[in-house]
Order: sequence, then C-alpha cells, then structure tokens
Amino acid sequence: MDPLARIAELRQQIRHHEERYYIHDEPEISDEQFDRLLHELERLEAEHPDLVTPDSPTQRVAGRPSEAFATVEHVVPMLSLDNAYNEDELRAFDERVRKGAALGDTPVTYVAELKIDGLSIALTYENGRLVRGATRGDGVRGENVSPNVRTIRAIPLSLRGAPGDRFEIRGEVYLPRASFERINREREEADEPLFANPRNAAAGAMRNLDPSLVARRGLSAFTYQMVAADRQTALPATHAELLRQLSSWGLPVERHWRTCAGIEEVIAFCAEWADGRRELDFDTDGVVIKVDDLALRDRLGSTAKFPRWATAFKFPAQQAHTRLLKIEVNVGRTGANTPYAVLDPVFLAGSTISMATLHNAEDIARKDLREGDTVIVEKAGDVIPRVVAPILSLRPPDASPWTMPTACAACGSELRRDEEEVIWRCENASCPARLRRSLEHFASRSAMNIEGLGESLVDQLIERDLVRDFADVYALEASALENLVVTPREPRSERAVPRKLGKVGRNVVEEIARSKGNDLSKLVYGLGIRHVGEKAATTLAKRFRTMAGILDAPLESLQKVRDIGPVVAASVRAFADEPHNRALVDKLARAGVNMTTALPEEAAEQAGPLAGKTFVLTGTLETMTREEAAAAIEARGGKVVGSVSRKTGYLVVGADAGSKLDKARELGVTTLTEGEFKALIM
Ligand code: IVH
Repeated sequence: MDPLARIAELRQQIRHHEERYYIHDEPEISDEQFDRLLHELERLEAEHPDLVTPDSPTQRVAGRPSEAFATVEHVVPMLSLDNAYNEDELRAFDERVRKGAALGDTPVTYVAELKIDGLSIALTYENGRLVRGATRGDGVRGENVSPNVRTIRAIPLSLRGAPGDRFEIRGEVYLPRASFERINREREEADEPLFANPRNAAAGAMRNLDPSLVARRGLSAFTYQMVAADRQTALPATHAELLRQLSSWGLPVERHWRTCAGIEEVIAFCAEWADGRRELDFDTDGVVIKVDDLALRDRLGSTAKFPRWATAFKFPAQQAHTRLLKIEVNVGRTGANTPYAVLDPVFLAGSTISMATLHNAEDIARKDLREGDTVIVEKAGDVIPRVVAPILSLRPPDASPWTMPTACAACGSELRRDEEEVIWRCENASCPARLRRSLEHFASRSAMNIEGLGESLVDQLIERDLVRDFADVYALEASALENLVVTPREPRSERAVPRKLGKVGRNVVEEIARSKGNDLSKLVYGLGIRHVGEKAATTLAKRFRTMAGILDAPLESLQKVRDIGPVVAASVRAFADEPHNRALVDKLARAGVNMTTALPEEAAEQAGPLAGKTFVLTGTLETMTREEAAAAIEARGGKVVGSVSRKTGYLVVGADAGSKLDKARELGVTTLTEGEFKALIM
C-alpha cells in the first residue's frame, strides 16, 4: 500500500479508537492493539517526514516546553453564568425568559446539561483543524495554551465533516476523578502538597509550561458551545441540534443532557442529579439551563456579565452537624502554622470526616468558632471539608474564644506574620517541621550547591537524627553516610530505585567541605530567609560584606538598600531576631563556613523601575510562587500589599482568583495576567 494512503488510514483508525476510548468510554480494541497502530504510524512518519501534518495523532505532545503563554483576545467575550440556588430562583429565571421574549404563558423549551467543574476553554478550528486553545482569562483576554490542549486526547486535532472556515468551540477541560485520585496518591508518596479538588489540579496542569507533564495528568474535556463571529447562519436552529452536531464532528459532549419542555422538567432534572452526580467520573457542581431555540437566545441577549438565556443551578453543598472537639495547629513545610478542627467523627457525602481545615486565625475569629461548639461542616467542591459556622444555640456556657498560639507548634519559636498577611509562620530555620525542605534548599545548586545532598539523602539524615540543623551537615563523616539507602528517581521514568550510598558518601562529604568556601551571598540565600531570593541575597552581601553586618543591620539601613523593599527588610530583621537562627549562624561559623563576600561593593541607593507602584497578588501563579513574585516587585522598587484599594497600581491575577479581582474591577484597578506581569518585570 502506498505510504500516503496507509498514513491516512491509520490516522483515521487512531482517531476512531481515541474517540471510542476517551469520549465514549467504550474501547473496541485493547491498549496493545492501539499502541501498535500508533507505532506503525510513527514509523511511517519517521520514514516520510514530509508527510507529517500538525493534526496527526503523533503530534499531540510538542517537543519542548513552551515559553510563557501569550495573551490572546477572544472573538466574542466568554461570559459567565448567573446562578440559581433553589426551585424558586429557577422559576424566576423562567419568568424573566418568558417576559423578555414576550411569550406569555407559553412554556419555553430548555436544554439542561451537567455543569462541569473544570476550567473553560476556547478551541479555534480552521479548515477543520485545531489551531488554537485558549483559557478564559478575564473573559475578554485569555492565555494561549495550545500545546497543552493538544495533549488532551478527547479533543480532536481535526474535525470530521465540519465546515471549512474559522470558528470557536467552547467547553470545559476537567480532570476525571480517577486521574485526580492517582495524582494525589503519587503526590502523597512524594510528600508533595495534595490538590484540594480536581479543578485545581486541572487548572494547575493547563498552566504548566511543559506539555509532556500535562499529557501525563490525564485531562479530559467536554464541549457545549460554538461561536462564529461572522457566520451565525451556519449554526443549527436549536442547542440540542448543535450538541448532536458537535458529537458527530468527533467532539466530546457530556451525554446526560436533556431537552426539557418547561421549567418544571428542568427542576426534576436538577433534583435527579443532585444525588446522581456521585456516580459520575467527573465533578459537577450544578446544572446549566439553556434556552434551546438559538433565535430566541439572540432576542434575549446578554448583560455585561451573563447571557439572559442561561443560568446555572448550583447543587446545595452537603452539610452535617458535629462537635468541634479541639482546635489544633499544624506546621507545614514552609513553617506556616495553620489551625485545623478536630471533629467528633461524622459521615458526610461518602466518607467519615474527623478533621476540617480552618484556614487561619482571622477566619476562626470572624466565624467565632470555639472549642466545644456544635458546628456545621460542609463538603462543597472540595475534598477537604470545611467548618461553616457554629450553632450558637448549642454553645456550652463555658466556651471561650480561641486564640492563636504565639509559639510554633513544632519547635516553640515565636511566630510572626507579614504585614497584611493572615498566616503565622515560624522563622526558625532549624524548626523540625521545616528542616526537610529548608535543608534541600540549603544544599540546592543556587544556594550552597552541595551535589549529592538531594531529597532522598536529606530524608535519611533527618530520619536517622544525623542532622538537626544545617550546621550538623558539616560534622558528617563518610563512614556515617556509606550505609544509608537512598532512592533517587530514574532520570527518564517516575520509578524510584533504592540503593546504598557506598563510596558516593565520600564524594558527598567532599562536596560538603568544598561548600564551606562559598561566597556569603550563597549562604544568605541558602538560609531560606523568607522573601530573600538569590538577587536580594547578593545585594545584601554586597552591601553589608559580612554575615554579622547583615544580621546586625537596623531595619532602616536594610530598607535603604537599593532593591530591598520593606517586606524583605522586615523579613531579614525577623530572621535575625530569632535566637535559634543566631545560634545556627554561630554554629556554621564555628564549622568553618565562610561568612564574607568577595563581590564588589554595592553602589549608592537608587530607585527601581517600579518605584512608587503598589501591587496586590491574587490566585495561584503557575511559573513562580507568590514570594518570588513579591521579591521581583520589590527588587524593582515596587511595593506589595495584601488588599486592593484605590491606591493599588496593579492587581496580578493568577488561577482561581477570588474576591480581590471583583474588588479591583469595581475600583477600576489595572489587572495583569501572569504573562503581562512577567513582561513588566523582565
Ligand atoms: S455554558 C455564556 N455549559 O461554567 C456562558 N458552561 O459559571 C456559556 N461550565 O464559564 C457557558 N459546564 O466554564 C456552560 N455545560 C456547561 C458548563 C459550563 C461548566 C462553566 C463554564 C462557564 C462557567 C460559568
């Protein structure tokens, strides 16, 4: 058979089986048979590179990680949906529709669909081929995440029988529950923080810069909308027909949608799925109700935020009542002391819960939660339950308000929090709760650069009590290391292989000894002082010359240093004021670690490019932590504060942004996507 014809045939077969497997969950062939088809195609394409096309199933994962995502504008804004929380609000929606369309008592035909709890996506097809995938962003502008979208096997790279010109298909990317559970199991084993729910995990994946990692997450998608700015005529007459059409083109459509004659049928559908949703392999947080007749939709139009022809019914969160036995504090690996509730075990939405997050001390005070209270607990979209409120009528007379401890729950050091922050943190670099992560950082390449002292060895050293602080590392002897069993990950797989350290132990000891001579700037960075990144560490070293010079500098002198803002300065002071840290530095000096710099002296102070600008950060940034973002702003003379006001210059908006974004819009504060922010600080 001629290769061109065979390639075409293979691609069609592969897409057919992808569709059976990833969309309909009804495979017709085994994984092995599928792989064989894919390998044959790969081989043929390798032999005939000129026949490779971008919509070939072999082209799902692009070769290399992408740069930051470019901002793209949506042809038509991606609106959000108004919400209805009960039957009455659904009937009120129906009234508005009938009134708006002057329909009198004629019942309206609706389509009810499950509301997928994922993140919205806009797929652009041109001549039947997928040419772009973009996130919703702020609705007007989103981020181009095409390389990541292409890895989602449910999304066809080319459509079967669709019209030729350019149009947009909208839908939702989500993480199936099975994939979510697998990912969290893996994270638990690797001691990484767990995702609270599949949506967060999906959002994180979509904004990852490495498509090969995204491919491994196992994302999926559903589509439900078609937007064609210039060719309304090509749309069918009803939404139901559109959904059938999308399916026939090979697009994934959630199959439980139903045409409803009038709002009462919609209400019945909502009631059915309030319980039925637990059987699904994806999270749904409600039902979307849409007017079926597309011409009628046009007549109804939209407000600035929502279409008038649709609404989202939100399933009630499942709640239970139980006793709040005790409020305890957990210490995370960054030193964050977070209160949590110890509950009288209670069964809620499929599992028994005995603990719930309480977020922070302010939240507890606002809700006035007290030990001994009977409380309402809730599982909303999250796997982790939360405490909603106390039932005041059941409060024991002797219950007293809770106060946040002032000492770290793990080491007893005094807790501190940044101005305008809610989280209390332990500043002791040797705190046992922090030690694992802080020691890994201490040894990392940009810090003390101790090759061989990685995650696995650090674990062993701490477990065997060979190291209780950074300075203990300098007392290690090769004989103590030889018998440790470390489990490095194989470079090209996820597999961990345990092995004895043996002679390598001696190399590690040599590396440790060598690191004593490092410049002060590396040591300052390695100490893991909050907000002090590599750049700030270098600046501090250059300006103050010795460790003592930095630690003894008064707050005012620190603040005056070029590129050191008030947050960094306060953090350095807090570190220096913690007695454990002073003792640690002395111990390091006694071990022979260099405490001076050979870098040129820092020149006089000067204002940075962001001088006078105030920033607020919200949501999760994908390519940097909040601390890194704050440090970057301050290094350029800008200021970071916790809440949005009229004086705020910019709001940097990450994924899952909350009320700060609403506030910024209200006040007309300029918002920046992560991409825009990075351009600003380049
Ligand atoms: S229709 C004009 N249908 O919910 C808005 N949205 O809360 C058209 N969503 O931004 C949206 N499942 O990301 C629609 N079956 C569904 C949906 C759905 C989930 C999301 C969508 C939207 C958000 C609004």
